[in-house]
Amino acid sequence: MKILHIDSSIMGDASVSRQLSADIVKHLKQKHGAEAQVQHLDLAVEQIPHLNSEILMGQNAEQSALGEQLLQQYLDADVVVVGAAMYNFGLPSTLKAWIDRISVAGRTFKYTEQGPVGLAGDKKVYIASSRGGVYGDNSPVDYQEGFLKTVFNFTGVNDVEIIRAEGVNMGAEMKQQAMSAAQAKIQAI
Ligand SMILES: Cc1cc2nc3c(=O)[nH]c(=O)nc-3n(C[C@H](O)[C@H](O)[C@H](O)COP(=O)(O)O)c2cc1C
Repeated sequence: MKILHIDSSIMGDASVSRQLSADIVKHLKQKHGAEAQVQHLDLAVEQIPHLNSEILMGQNAEQSALGEQLLQQYLDADVVVVGAAMYNFGLPSTLKAWIDRISVAGRTFKYTEQGPVGLAGDKKVYIASSRGGVYGDNSPVDYQEGFLKTVFNFTGVNDVEIIRAEGVNMGAEMKQQAMSAAQAKIQAI
């Protein structure tokens, strides 16, 4: 079982999403033993250049190779664990840069006369979501979880589970409660 573990928080050891994503991966490794092979992609360290016309048109050999590597890594994964902090109501831009490389027509989706069809469906995604405030499930100002879920669904992945700690900047007690609730969800995986 190939696990792709992605982190994007800029907060290092103080990061909530990194703690949750690491705990999810640890739990999966305990559950699946030697079968679980993990690749860690740390987007705060290995920053992916923004997509530009040169990269899109395949005119930059180095970036074409990187794009192919990221795409293949996503296609090969059986499980994807994404640490996704909420930054300014959306995702860290480093995570958006990754999305721009794996959303590729003919590889992860295609358009048909009936509309778009995802091509990378056979995997499970866990989103380790952290937010300073409280938004709940369907907030109109949440461009983080909903956006990420839409992107995975678009590539054909419908099995997306959100493990969320929110209100983490609203005092120590709120943070503790949020972490305990997230940990309980992880243990139930
Ligand atoms: C640049 C930046 C932007 C943020 N924007 C928001 C926001 O729009 N809404 C919110 O509730 N919290 C926001 N926060 C708080 C983070 O979501 C919160 O600290 C969360 O724990 C970040 O995840 P991390 O601990 O994994 O880095 C922001 C934090 C940073 C550093």
